[in-house]
Amino acid sequence: MISGVDNDSIVYLNGEYVRLVDAKVSVLDRGFVFGDGIYEVVPIYNGVPFRMRQHIARLQRSLQAIRIHVEYTQAQWQALVERVLSRAADPKANLMVYLQVTRGVAKRDHAFPAAAEPTVFCMASPFSRPGPAQRDEGLCAISIPDTRWLLCHIKSVSLLGNVLARQAAVDAGVDEVLQFRDGYLTEGASCNIWVVKNGVLMAPEANHLILEGIRYRFLAELARDAGISFQSCPISAEQVNEADELMMTSATKEVLPIVRYDGRAVGTGKPGPVYALLRASYDRVIESL
Ligand code: PDD
Repeated sequence: MISGVDNDSIVYLNGEYVRLVDAKVSVLDRGFVFGDGIYEVVPIYNGVPFRMRQHIARLQRSLQAIRIHVEYTQAQWQALVERVLSRAADPKANLMVYLQVTRGVAKRDHAFPAAAEPTVFCMASPFSRPGPAQRDEGLCAISIPDTRWLLCHIKSVSLLGNVLARQAAVDAGVDEVLQFRDGYLTEGASCNIWVVKNGVLMAPEANHLILEGIRYRFLAELARDAGISFQSCPISAEQVNEADELMMTSATKEVLPIVRYDGRAVGTGKPGPVYALLRASYDRVIESL
């Protein structure tokens, strides 16, 4: 039995639907041996997937980037997610779908195996939207160097750099880290970071140094609709220090304000007006699903 999860929940593994506790992969799976695989996390609100098409498109880009071939169309991936959702204990709950594809099981050799079937795994688990404490009081963050590789745009399961970054936050007793490469902001341990200065919303460019979140474009759209100007541009450590507002986005955290950074208050030390507008717009979209 695995603690903290619903062991009886039904998951998909390589063509079969089995209980989570019974889903097993070989120790020679390249995901286990090399971290040779990719994943997605899709939020589901009251049973309705949010931005599923974009999540599946990113899954397909990740697969292509690491040259894993799965003959699934967008529609087939979506149908797979829907089948897993329909088997959830409460299909109308807020759920988080996790999809993972690895290069499959083969004799240990770094080079791609000549013939291996990709391992395809999908599970749905309950997801709690951020509560009032996080939404209204905000988060604390610290800066750390970004020690990860240079292909961060791939949603790879090789997440050691992100794991160490997240643990740095836990060890420092804060909620999040802001990573910097060569003096410029990249992203959080598992989220994108946003900076507001003089009413302008900014995010680091979506290049190989960050994972372009599905909320990256979504927040930019919300900003445009709310009349907030948005710039995607390099952001220096100094600009982050002088920000009026900081925020983070991810599938599970949605959009949250960061009110303390490296031991100092960000702006007024309270969630700011740009956050408030984006938060309200975010909620409206989710409520209208
Ligand atoms: N993480 N950057 C990184 C490194 C991430 O891991 C994530 C998401 C994001 C935000 O992407 P999105 O808006 O599509 O969730 C940015 C997921 C939630 C995870 O690993 O659990």
